[in-house]
Amino acid sequence: MNVIPLSSFHAEVIAHIHKDAFDEHWSTDEFSNLITLPATFGFLYQTDGQPLGFILCQGDALEAEIITIATHLNARRQGVGRQLIKTAFDESIRLYLEVAQDNSVARQFYRNMGFLQVGLRKKYYKRNGKASVDALVLSLSATDK
Ligand SMILES: CC(C)(COP(=O)(O)OP(=O)(O)OC[C@H]1O[C@@H](n2cnc3c(N)ncnc32)[C@H](O)[C@@H]1OP(=O)(O)O)[C@@H](O)C(=O)NCCC(=O)NCCS
Repeated sequence: MNVIPLSSFHAEVIAHIHKDAFDEHWSTDEFSNLITLPATFGFLYQTDGQPLGFILCQGDALEAEIITIATHLNARRQGVGRQLIKTAFDESIRLYLEVAQDNSVARQFYRNMGFLQVGLRKKYYKRNGKASVDALVLSLSATDK
C-alpha cells in the first residue's frame, strides 16, 4: 500500500472512482482543473499499483475542506478511507466537510473518525425529482483525535 499526492495526471482515475461512488458525476477535466488550483491538495491510495481511493481537499495548513473522498466499490471497509483522512491531517490541522443527511454510510464513517457536527445547511443537495436533502457540516481537529 502507498498513498501518494494527487496530480492532474490522476484526474481520469479519480473521475472513474468518483463516478461509481456518487450520483453526480464530475468529468476528468473538472478534476484536472480542481487539482491544479493553488489551495487544492489530495492523495491517492494504491495497492500494487491499483488505485483504490482518493481524497481531495482545499485549504491550508490551519484548516481545509474535504471536497470529496471515495473508495473504490471493491475496496470498501478495508481502511482505505481511514488512511486517506489520516494523511490529509498531515497537511492541515482542522478538516471540515459537508455530508448529505441521507448518506448513512459516510455519516457512520465520519463518526467513527471522530468528526462532530458544527453546522447544518438546509436543502443543500438538490435531488432529481426528489425533495432536497440537508447537508451536515462536520469538523475534526488533529488535536481532538
Ligand atoms: C465513505 C467511504 C469513503 C468510506 O471509505 P472506506 O474505505 O470504506 O472506509 P474505511 O474502511 O476506512 O472505514 C472506516 C470506518 O468507517 C465506518 N464505516 C465505513 N463503511 C461503513 C459501512 N458501510 N457501514 C458502517 N460503518 C462503516 C466503520 O466504522 C469503519 O471501521 P471498521 O471497518 O473498523 O468498523 C466509502 O464508503 C465511499 O466511498 N462512499 C461513497 C462516497 C461517499 O459517500 N463519500 C463521502 C461523501 S461526504
